[in-house]
Amino acid sequence: MIKGVIFDLDGVLVSTDKLHYLAWKRLAQDLGITDFTEQDNARQRGVSRMASLQVVLEKSNHSYTDQEKIDFAERKNQYYVELLESLTEKAILPNAAETIVLLRKKNIQIAVGSVSKNAPAILQRTGLLPLIDKVGCGLDIIRSKPDPEVFLIAAKKLGQNPKNCLVVEDSEAGIQAAKAAEMKSLALGPEKENPLADYHAVSLADPSINWDMIIAS
Ligand code: G1P
Ligand code: MG
Repeated sequence: MIKGVIFDLDGVLVSTDKLHYLAWKRLAQDLGITDFTEQDNARQRGVSRMASLQVVLEKSNHSYTDQEKIDFAERKNQYYVELLESLTEKAILPNAAETIVLLRKKNIQIAVGSVSKNAPAILQRTGLLPLIDKVGCGLDIIRSKPDPEVFLIAAKKLGQNPKNCLVVEDSEAGIQAAKAAEMKSLALGPEKENPLADYHAVSLADPSINWDMIIAS
């Protein structure tokens, strides 16, 4: 029986992935890397800021000191935060808010589980925050997905047993984290990308999602 649903944020509730991509690409260009692609960016989904930087630096011939890497990650975040200033409720993905409202009506508790340290600001700017019971984010954790830490913290904040929680995710690292947390999972995106998930749908607007069946599982 599902009593709590924990949503990933980027790529599940809001379309911030493009902004992450633009910010990382701008940093890559600063570093003379001109071939940073959307495929590289896909590998940064659900991954911490420093691990995401590593995906960029794989494309560089230089080796950088730890302090330089910290400065690069900070610079990317400044670029990203600049882009977030233009974020409005228009960034909410189709049927995301409606899904949360529907689940709340079914007495399901709602949490966000995101490794992004910007998650609270994004929820605030898009107006989603009042719909969410609890937020677990990059500010609460030491280990990023695929470690289950962020989902376990979200479940704890909801006061729910992990076994009664469902994770909604678009990243492979996130589905692995849900498994490690012993939670059920709904993967969004092409099914072949996340064969480990219990349920699959193209997006939250997919009419094939049977919430009553999922909740009863
Ligand atoms: C971090 C990473 C980003 C990743 C995101 C996942 O966000 O930097 O690459 O896609 O988590 O939600 P940040 O804490 O920098 O906002
Ligand atoms: Mg995501």
